[in-house]
Amino acid sequence: MLKGKHIVIGITGGIAAYKIPYLIRLLVREGAVVRVIMTPAAKDFVTPLTLATLSQNDVIFHPFNHETGAWNSHVELGQWADLMLFAPTTANTLGKMANGIADNFLVTAYLSAKCPVMIAPSMDLDMYQHPTTRKNLDILKGYGHIIIDAQVGELASGLTGPGRMEEPENILEQITSFFFQHEELKGKRILVTAGPTYEKIDPVRFVGNHSSGQMGFCIAEEAAGRGGDVVLISGPVNLHTNHPSIRRINVTTASEMHQACIDHFSSSDILIMAAAVADYTIESPASGKLKKKAEEFTLTLSPTADILKELGEKKRADQYLVGFALETDDGLESAKKKLKNKSLDLIVMNSLKDDGAGFGGATNKVIMISSNGNTVTGELKPKREVASDIVDAILISLNSNQSS
Ligand code: CTP
Repeated sequence: MLKGKHIVIGITGGIAAYKIPYLIRLLVREGAVVRVIMTPAAKDFVTPLTLATLSQNDVIFHPFNHETGAWNSHVELGQWADLMLFAPTTANTLGKMANGIADNFLVTAYLSAKCPVMIAPSMDLDMYQHPTTRKNLDILKGYGHIIIDAQVGELASGLTGPGRMEEPENILEQITSFFFQHEELKGKRILVTAGPTYEKIDPVRFVGNHSSGQMGFCIAEEAAGRGGDVVLISGPVNLHTNHPSIRRINVTTASEMHQACIDHFSSSDILIMAAAVADYTIESPASGKLKKKAEEFTLTLSPTADILKELGEKKRADQYLVGFALETDDGLESAKKKLKNKSLDLIVMNSLKDDGAGFGGATNKVIMISSNGNTVTGELKPKREVASDIVDAILISLNSNQSS
C-alpha cells in the first residue's frame, strides 16, 4: 500500500515514543521507506539502535554525525519526504513548530519540509487542554497540517483523560488513507522525457545544450508519487531517481530519444515532453578526432525529427500530450503556436527573460496554456513545486475533458 513512500518520523521526548518502533515496523511492512529524526529528549524513551534496526536507516539527531563525519542536510531530508509525521509530539515541540523556534535538527527539518505534515500529540491531560497547547494546535492546523487527535485513556501520570497518543495501527490507517486519497494517477502510464541530447561531432566532441534535466525528473517523481507508472527517458544528466514506480531509460542523441519515445508512446496515457531535444544533428560525424587546423571549417547540420509533433499526429483520443516551450522573445505567442502545431493538450512555457527560470537552476517560473484556452501563470518556485502545479493542471484538464 505504501510502496516507495518516503516517510520521515520525528520523535520527541514523550513516553509514547516506546510505541514508535512498532509503528515503523508496520510502515516498513507496507513498503514505506522510513527515516527517523529524534530530539535529544526522545533518546530517554526509546533507543536509537531499535529505531535504526527497524527503519533500516541511521537515526538522525544533529546536522553533523560525529562518528562518520557525515553532514545531515535538513533541507535534503525535508525535500526527500513524501510525508513528515511527528509522533509523539510534546507540548514543547508543538510550541516550537507553531512559532518557528528551530533550535534542534527536527524543527529545522520541519521548517524545510515541502511535503504534507501529520502531528500526533501526546501529553498529560492538563497540558493537552492548556490554552497554549490548543492555540499552537490551531496555528499548526491553519498551516494545513493534519492533527491526529490524542485519545482519551489512561495516561503515564496515572490520570485518565485526553492526551494519549493515537495507537500505531490507527496512525498507519490515517497515513494509508491519506496517500490513497492522493493517488490521482493510479492506473495511468506516464511517459516523461528529461534533459538535453548530445549530437556527436567526433568521438570526443558534441553539440548539446544547458538543460540539467531537473524539471523532467521532478515531474517524473511527482507523477510517481501520485500513483502513476512512469517511464522516464533521460538524456545525459547528472541526476538520480530511485522511486520504484519510475523506469528510467537513458539516451544520448535526439535520434535515440526519438526511438525510445516511439517505443513507449502507444502504451502511455500521458506524455510530458520536458526534454530539450536538439533540433539539428551533425550530418556526418567524424569517426576519428578532428585535428586542429589553421583555416575555418564548417559543420553541416541536418534537422532531427520533431518528436512531439510526430507523436501529436499519432495521438489517440484517450492520450494527453504536454509540451514545453523555452522562449527568449515573444514567449506567449510562440508557445501558443507550438500548442497548436504540435496538437498538444497543454504547453508549459518558461522564459529566459525571467530571472531564476529555465535551464540549470533549482527554480522555475512557468505559464501553462491548455488547448481549451485556460491559462495559469505561476510564481517563481522550486522545480519540485512547479512539477506539482503541472501535474495539478493535467489532472484538472483531464477531469474537465471527462465531464464535458
Ligand atoms: N521537441 C521535440 N523534438 C524536437 C524538438 C523539440 O519533441 N526535435 C519538443 C520539446 O521537448 C518541447 C517542445 O517540442 O516539449 C518545444 O520545444 P522547443 O525547443 O521550445 O521548440 P521547437 O519546436 O524546437 O522550436 P524553436 O526551437 O524554434 O523554438
